Amino acid sequence: MSTETISKRGAISHGLATSVLERVATIASCTEKPGEILRTFLSPAMEEVHERMRPWLERMGMNVNVDAAGNLRAVYASDAGESSPVLIIGSHLDTVPNAGAYDGVLGVLLGLALVEGLGGRRLPYSIEIIGFSDEEGTRFGVPFLGSRLLTEMPSETSFLESRDSSGVTIRQALAKYRVGHPGVTPSIFNPKSAGYFEFHIEQGPLLESRNLSLGVVESIVGQSRCHVVFHGSAGHAGTSPMPLRRDALAAAALWITRCESIAAGGVGLVATVGQILVKPGAVNVIPGTALCSLDVRHADDAERTNAVEAMMKEARDIAAERGLGIETDEYHTQPAVRFDPEMISLAEKAVRDAGCGHIRMTSGAGHDAMVIASHLPTGMIFLRSPGGISHHPDESVLVDDVEVAIQAGLCFLDEFALFIEKRGNSPRE
Ligand code: HGY
Ligand code: MN
Ligand code: MN
Repeated sequence: MSTETISKRGAISHGLATSVLERVATIASCTEKPGEILRTFLSPAMEEVHERMRPWLERMGMNVNVDAAGNLRAVYASDAGESSPVLIIGSHLDTVPNAGAYDGVLGVLLGLALVEGLGGRRLPYSIEIIGFSDEEGTRFGVPFLGSRLLTEMPSETSFLESRDSSGVTIRQALAKYRVGHPGVTPSIFNPKSAGYFEFHIEQGPLLESRNLSLGVVESIVGQSRCHVVFHGSAGHAGTSPMPLRRDALAAAALWITRCESIAAGGVGLVATVGQILVKPGAVNVIPGTALCSLDVRHADDAERTNAVEAMMKEARDIAAERGLGIETDEYHTQPAVRFDPEMISLAEKAVRDAGCGHIRMTSGAGHDAMVIASHLPTGMIFLRSPGGISHHPDESVLVDDVEVAIQAGLCFLDEFALFIEKRGNSPRE
């Protein structure tokens, strides 16, 4: 790439990087909980995000819709006609509770910045920006709803019976959303989709430790999400002798430390009990029930499966030793994915053309890309996470890293044109 192009791109991308960060701040104000960032599946706060983003997208000459799964979808059409292939650039717009401002949103707004960076230039393919409606699974516990409803219907739909804290199922929430939003479009892939690309913050410390702005993702670890319920018996905290108790929370506490030891003993294995619900939950009542979540991840699916089984065995053994009942359920399994080697090389070339060093990385965090990767050639670029902080209000990015990401993204758009030319009309092979 000529130095003139790079310096021209540099001038464009500095302005764009600043506006990306301003827009992130605007979207951060769309929340269900004043004082923190929280946006969940099909919520009013998510609709507010759509309303804020719509004019930014339409100003770029993009055709904007929301689909029946609540995904925000905007198309920057090719000048090569209706049958042109489509590159999807996406990420998610929902958040975990008390979230940072960049997880997900940054990827969607970088997609918009790339369209802006084209300065009206049309490509031999269309770009579809997708802001997925749910990746975290905060409302229903089931992750990747936006990308799964786009890609897995109608093959696997049992997850639609999952319930939120008020007992509403995903199926009911979707039906209610359609009634309230008659203008939504079908939640299906554009059949001409030829590739998927996602920018995301790393959410870990590696890029910062190597003093790098960007990383090229080559794989994402698999994840298991489980429920483990200890059934003891509630009782009086003052009159029940210790040896006679069947304390569900004490059993859960022991089990959580056993899970921690199993994970600490495994290379590249992580396990987290992020939620625990104690019933009846009174100061002076021995806990009768303890409902725990469990999130287990590993790059190798067999290692992860073995670890989950070991942790479930620990739960069964502890329950048996203490005369408690036990329920275990692995309700969501997402296999590890490796991205299309050519998409990885395109991303690497784009980062190099932007004058940036990089490393290849495996993502410990899940992303919509891991759902889409089994349907389309998929690539991801990570931006450095200062302090490795994420899923926390102190999550941040550096404006210079956003700028070089935009430059790399603009180089990627040109590389992708060559990619689809080479792969012809069946880029999904
Ligand atoms: O949990 C994850 O890895 C992602 O943030 N959803
Ligand atoms: Mn996240
Ligand atoms: Mn994310």
